[in-house]
Amino acid sequence: MEEVILFSSKKEMEKALAQQEVLTIQVGMVKYNMTRVGNEVYVFEQKCPHFDHSLANAKVSPYGKITCLWHNYQFDLQSGEESEERCRSLVTHQAEWTDDGQLMVKL
Ligand code: FES
Repeated sequence: MEEVILFSSKKEMEKALAQQEVLTIQVGMVKYNMTRVGNEVYVFEQKCPHFDHSLANAKVSPYGKITCLWHNYQFDLQSGEESEERCRSLVTHQAEWTDDGQLMVKL
């Protein structure tokens, strides 16, 4: 498991990542998407577990759910579970604030 620093401060996060916005990041050779709900940031796989549609333009709710725009499957950003268990769960990682104020995620 690799620890990745996403932002060096809360201010930097707020400037770079709007509420419920989805951004694509690259870590080594792997691309991920990330989004923010309140002060929680989630890093998750780039494609939908249902049929590999890109989640880069998926819709994120203020309640921590992400909806793929192809067939509207909805995943919980914390658990990754699809709301009706129609496919496997989304692989998702919740970022954590370190003691020195950086936002870090284990991938
Ligand atoms: S590909 Fe995402 S819901 Fe079908």
